[in-house]
Order: sequence, then structure tokens, then C-alpha cells
Amino acid sequence: MTDILFTPFTIKTLTVPNRITMPAMTRGFSLGGVPGPDVAAYYAARVAGGVGLIISEAVAVERAAAAEVLGIPVFYDPLAQTGWKRVIEGVHALGGRIAAQLHHAGALRDPETMNAPDTPNDEPDTMSEEDIADTISAFAKSAATAKSLGFDAVEVHGANGNLIDQFLWEGRNTRTDRWGGSLVARTHFAVEVLRAVRAQVGPDFPVFFRLSQFKQGAYEAKIAQDPAELEKILGLLSDAGSDAFHASQRRFWEPAFPDSPLNLAGWAKRLTGKPSITVGSVGLNGPDITDLLTGKGGNAGPAGLDELRSRVEAAEFDLVSVGRALLTDPAWPNKVRDGRLKDLCGFDLTSLGSLVTEAPHPPHVV
Ligand SMILES: Cc1cc2nc3c(=O)[nH]c(=O)nc-3n(C[C@H](O)[C@H](O)[C@H](O)COP(=O)(O)O)c2cc1C
Repeated sequence: MTDILFTPFTIKTLTVPNRITMPAMTRGFSLGGVPGPDVAAYYAARVAGGVGLIISEAVAVERAAAAEVLGIPVFYDPLAQTGWKRVIEGVHALGGRIAAQLHHAGALRDPETMNAPDTPNDEPDTMSEEDIADTISAFAKSAATAKSLGFDAVEVHGANGNLIDQFLWEGRNTRTDRWGGSLVARTHFAVEVLRAVRAQVGPDFPVFFRLSQFKQGAYEAKIAQDPAELEKILGLLSDAGSDAFHASQRRFWEPAFPDSPLNLAGWAKRLTGKPSITVGSVGLNGPDITDLLTGKGGNAGPAGLDELRSRVEAAEFDLVSVGRALLTDPAWPNKVRDGRLKDLCGFDLTSLGSLVTEAPHPPHVV
């Protein structure tokens, strides 16, 4: 019987050879904003291991305060563009596809860590109309560059507490002008970014939007209290040009709202009729991403995939992002495809220290 995880899926001009996506993971190895041959090899290894679609690590748009840590790549530097071409060629040569995540960290950036205490953060509450217009243009310019470099899609990063998410979340956006206040007004910034991106890339190029309820540092936060609020937000984003929604969760099996088993990606698909991507502890049994961020736990063993598969079969969502498991185990998709579940490695914290997974990890028994 055909395993649905290994069937193709099409979003506009993008056909992904299977349903396995590597989500954006900032690694901090692109010194000076330039992804080097080591970064290209890192992505190529995951495609060789069976990933259908890579979503690049967050790529900072051209604003002084867009990147929150050192080593985040950019598109606006000619050396970085050469580096990205090498990444894209490596992925395409192996039959994979690659999207670029367009990023602005907003208030998540620590100016001291960035050695730039004099550069103020862009934050919803302090940005001028000019700052907002420049930032929207910077997203659009990044999208145009990503398309011209040969990326197959772009993903606007509106999740996990970054700038766009700070506008969406009432806990962070206290503006009283057209960019804040009501739910519709808080969604306005994301809408304008999507419109500007869409205007640059044309009607056929796939544009994803990444959203989450939780924020880095505010794990109980929500942008939508109920499905009706989510429908309002996603309807606006869908009309503004998003072709698919990547719903960031810590555990994919958790319902987004009471009274329905649907997860956030499931709701996004149901409410918009557009494709969606799920994520969150896929293939892992143990601490989740927020446990990792809060220092509560790191290593996780492998987990079974029956529930995931049946949810894809039920078309609750279409693509499945595998994050930490792919950091430790680049061949995770091929092992799953071939039924080599006993060879899966889980996630080992030491994989964060280097782009290369150095030593083969001892297999765990599933
Ligand atoms: C090291 C690391 C860096 C991350 N950086 C980003 C990022 O740049 N952009 C983003 O949208 N999510 C980022 N995430 C979140 C992942 O995309 C993913 O949603 C999360 O790890 C949950 O998936 P998992 O449980 O399969 O690891 C990062 C996660 C990790 C582990």
C-alpha cells in the first residue's frame, strides 16, 4: 500500500516530491550573513536523506535590527546571494525543493548580544509610519531576491513571537492607529507584508505564511481565542496572498481549540480551504521545542508515526515538518520510507553545536 507521506503534493508552481518538510531552523552558522559551503552541505544532506521541501533558516530582511543573533543569513549582500545559489543548486541537484523564510525578529533581538546597543529594535509600539513602510518594502525586496535566486517558494515568518507576530498579538501590540487595536487592525501589518510580497513575486509563485499561537517567552499566548477569531485573521491573510499556512505548534497531536481534535494546521486548512503544514515533535517522544527553549529538557527518543499518517490520510493537513529529528538524523525520511524504524535516532542536543551530525547515534528501539 502506498504510504501517503511519500506521495507528491502541489502548491501552485511547486511540486514537492513527498510530504516531508524541514522547517526553518536558525543555526547561526552564516557568518557575516553569508551561507557558506558548510551550510549548502548541511541542507543537501537532508535532501539526500529524503526531505522533499527545505524551508530555509530565517533570513533577515534588510533592516538594521532584523536579525536577533549573529550568524543569521541575509539576501541583500552579493556574497550571500552567491552562497544561496550554491545552497539552491545543491538541493535541486538531489531532486529537493527549497523555500526561503523571510524574517524580522522585532523585539526578540537583544541589542547587546548583537554588539549593536545603539540600534533600537523595531517593535510594534515604537515603529513610525516610515519604519513600517520600510520594513514592508524590505520583506517585498527579500521575496523578489529569493525568487530571482531560484528558490521555489517563500515563507513569511509570522510565528513564534517575531515582528509580524508581535503585531498580531494584543499582548505586544498596544498601538491605537490603523496598525493596532482591533483584531483586524493587528492583522493589518501581516496583510500589507503579504500584499507587497505577492506584488513582487507575481500570482503563480507560492507564498506561505507561518503562524503560531505561542510566542517565544510567552508560551500560553494566543493570537486567536477561538475558531471565529482565527477565521478572521486567516481570511485576511489568505486574501492578501498566502497560498498555504504553516502552523507552528509544540506537539502536532494537540487540539488548537476545545471541542475538536483538529490541530492548528487542521483549522487553518478547514477555515481557508488552502493547504497547510503541521509541525511539532513529529517522530519524537520527549521534551518539545518549548522545553528546549526554556532549558527544561533536550534529548528526545524516536516515536511512532501512525497518528501522523492517519491525520495526513484524513487530509487534516498536507505537509509535515520535521525539525529537531532532522538535525540529528538527516536520513530520517528515507528510514521512515524504508520501514527502518529501529534505525531512527531521535534528537540529541549535541547536534545543535555543529552543522554536521558528527557521529552516528546508536539506534533506539521503537
Ligand atoms: C535550533 C532551532 C532553530 C529554530 N529556528 C527557527 C526559525 O528560524 N524560524 C522558525 O519559524 N522556527 C524556528 N524553529 C522552530 C522549528 O521550525 C520547529 O517549529 C520546532 O523545532 C518544532 O518542531 P520539532 O518539534 O520537530 O523540532 C527553530 C527550532 C530549532 C530547534
